[in-house]
Amino acid sequence: MLSERVPEANAAGPSTALMRKAYARWAPVYDVVYDKLTEPAARAAVEAAAEHGPRVLEAGVGTGLSLGYYPKGSFVCGVDLSEDMLKRARNKVRRRGLTHVRGLQVMDVCRLGYADNSFDAVVAQFLITLVPDPEAALSEFLRVVRPGGGIVLANHFGQTDGPMARVEEIVAPLCTKIGWSSDFKSTRIEAWARRNGVEFSGVAPTFPGGFFKILRMRKAG
Ligand SMILES: C[S@@+](CC[C@H](N)C(=O)[O-])C[C@H]1O[C@@H](n2cnc3c(N)ncnc32)[C@H](O)[C@@H]1O
Repeated sequence: MLSERVPEANAAGPSTALMRKAYARWAPVYDVVYDKLTEPAARAAVEAAAEHGPRVLEAGVGTGLSLGYYPKGSFVCGVDLSEDMLKRARNKVRRRGLTHVRGLQVMDVCRLGYADNSFDAVVAQFLITLVPDPEAALSEFLRVVRPGGGIVLANHFGQTDGPMARVEEIVAPLCTKIGWSSDFKSTRIEAWARRNGVEFSGVAPTFPGGFFKILRMRKAG
């Protein structure tokens, strides 16, 4: 169904190495901490992605918390840097019989091993703010999405101004060490979309209390 290129070696910058290390630690407890907290955002992101068609790439799929939310007839591929997280995703797929999941691979989202226009949508939940080069990742999403397809992000984004924005900036280095992000602003993604002729369809607040947001974009065509 999906044509794949042989993946190139992953970029192994210090931040990428840090992420791998952080998520090797998170993997055993990730579902306990995040499942209920992220479920509404994950369901909303999956629904938004599925509107574009059945072929979806989950970038930074992690332990596969959202893989069960896809509608019947979907074809979902998932990639992640962390083999420890992916191992758990593969177990879920097996245990729950999630036959719509067509592949889970170790891959850096900045160097996707898929051909151009392979997917109807790319969805990235709680990922984009953790990537060392988010614009490179977004450009890869754009490349592998077909014309008219969607890019859907779910995340917490930092405040653009005010005292909270300052606090988020102060705690940012600590957050990075444990695999979180506090001060990444959605305006950075809007700016990327403008530069690349991508339609920015808006940011919708979701649980808890608008802390997480769903950001939708559409590739021209
Ligand atoms: C906060 S977790 C989110 C996992 C999943 N999307 C979810 O919502 O439960 C972030 C995931 O992104 C992965 N990640 C971080 N940087 C990455 C990169 N450059 N390429 C691929 N995956 C990456 C981590 O390994 C981790 O599994």
